[in-house]
Amino acid sequence: MATPTMDKVAADDAAAASHLITVTFRIRRFNPEVSAEATWEDFQLEIDPKERVLDGLHKIKWELDGSLTFRRSCAHGICGSDAMRINGKNRLACKTLIKDINPAKPITVEPIKGLTVLKDLVVDMEPFFQAYRDVMPFLVTTGNEPTRERLQSAEDRERFDDTTKCILCAACTSSCPVFWNDGQYFGPAAIVNAHRFIFDSRDEAGEQRLEILNDKDGVWRCRTTFNCTDACPRGIEVTKAIQEVKRALITRRY
Ligand code: SF4
Ligand code: F3S
Ligand code: FES
Repeated sequence: MATPTMDKVAADDAAAASHLITVTFRIRRFNPEVSAEATWEDFQLEIDPKERVLDGLHKIKWELDGSLTFRRSCAHGICGSDAMRINGKNRLACKTLIKDINPAKPITVEPIKGLTVLKDLVVDMEPFFQAYRDVMPFLVTTGNEPTRERLQSAEDRERFDDTTKCILCAACTSSCPVFWNDGQYFGPAAIVNAHRFIFDSRDEAGEQRLEILNDKDGVWRCRTTFNCTDACPRGIEVTKAIQEVKRALITRRY
């Protein structure tokens, strides 16, 4: 294969640079070892608008301020670790293109709400995962272990298809005003993951999960605000799933 000439490399660099724009990232900073108060800090970057907010955060961390703290892993919308408030809305930083969020104005980046901030954009996810664990997010069956896979019709699989897409990013729960109030509400993500098993024809613990969600901090606290549905980066119909769980609790049919 031919090696690109120096001229070609220089021309490519110049073409890439011509696409760069100057963007201000306005980031909510918090370091409990330095101050009890969170503050805003601005960073100016030269960046291609087709890059993502996560690319901007990497650039800041790697080139401007190594102390900036945030979570991310896959960088491709799979692991759910980089949910944050970008321009006031919960989004995944790795799925948000800079050109799509008006880069002419400062891009505000804050931690998700309703969970304790540990440092900068990192929150304590433990209450979120505790609610998830509480709804028993695993298949429960009795009897002998089958010698082949448990069969299910396409129609039965369809009933919980939407809720299998959850990546546990917490964008829904941390956008819910009921959860912001006291953090006691199970929250939409836990209900979505309960839904995934309640409506699975192979599972035998639907009643148990419904009773767990019949609690004073369970599904009845949902006020059908729809913030959760708007926030979900996987496009899950979160509010609809919550309504289906409520209906199953009333009718005991699922
Ligand atoms: Fe994230 Fe959507 Fe799952 Fe909520 S339901 S945790 S927003 S993927
Ligand atoms: Fe909250 Fe979603 Fe219900 S935002 S109030 S869980 S519809
Ligand atoms: Fe994994 Fe964004 S880094 S979902």
